[in-house]
Amino acid sequence: MKKVLIVSTSLRNGSNSEILAKEAYRGALEVGNEVELVSLKDKSVNFCKGCLACHHTGKCIIKDNMNELMLKVKEAEVVVFATPIYYYEMSGMMKTFLDRCNPLYGKEDNKFKEVYLIATCADTDKSALDRAINGLEGWISCFEGCSFKKAIYGVGINDANGASKNNEVMQEAYLLGTKI
Ligand SMILES: Cc1cc2nc3c(=O)[nH]c(=O)nc-3n(C[C@H](O)[C@H](O)[C@H](O)COP(=O)(O)O)c2cc1C
Repeated sequence: MKKVLIVSTSLRNGSNSEILAKEAYRGALEVGNEVELVSLKDKSVNFCKGCLACHHTGKCIIKDNMNELMLKVKEAEVVVFATPIYYYEMSGMMKTFLDRCNPLYGKEDNKFKEVYLIATCADTDKSALDRAINGLEGWISCFEGCSFKKAIYGVGINDANGASKNNEVMQEAYLLGTKI
């Protein structure tokens, strides 16, 4: 059994990446993991100001939801990020979330070691995810012992709630959850 955190970063109602994230949640729960899915829709997560105070205090000076969310990342063994592709990159919301995890940088007691990505986009070519994966891998490389495991390619999905009609990718997301 693993402690799994799924972070859904789309702010859209009927979010495709969140629909897939929920499938991964269902799969991971079914096989006995301890799973939590957090949607950033109802959270306040502001931009990192780059003050680096967190390197001394372990906390962020910004008073929003990120101090509690960052602790969830720290304590999870597996983190799954779900994002829409915006201009052939991860969403700004996801990037902001990653930046705001800076209080965890250089800490030896981080538990998260395995990271997955679920992304949806209109483009039908899997290469549409390349930069998002590359960016996430850059973040991962800054945390010792942490590695990128797998991506779910929700390609060719544009309209809200469209993911639920794509049985193949829904199944892939569910299976990802079961194999975490
Ligand atoms: C600002 C913006 C930029 C987008 N850029 C791309 C893009 O570069 N390539 C692409 O294939 N789809 C792009 N899309 C479409 C979304 O990736 C697509 O609708 C996706 O399913 C949205 O996921 P969500 O419902 O989880 O937010 C863009 C959508 C928005 C709103």
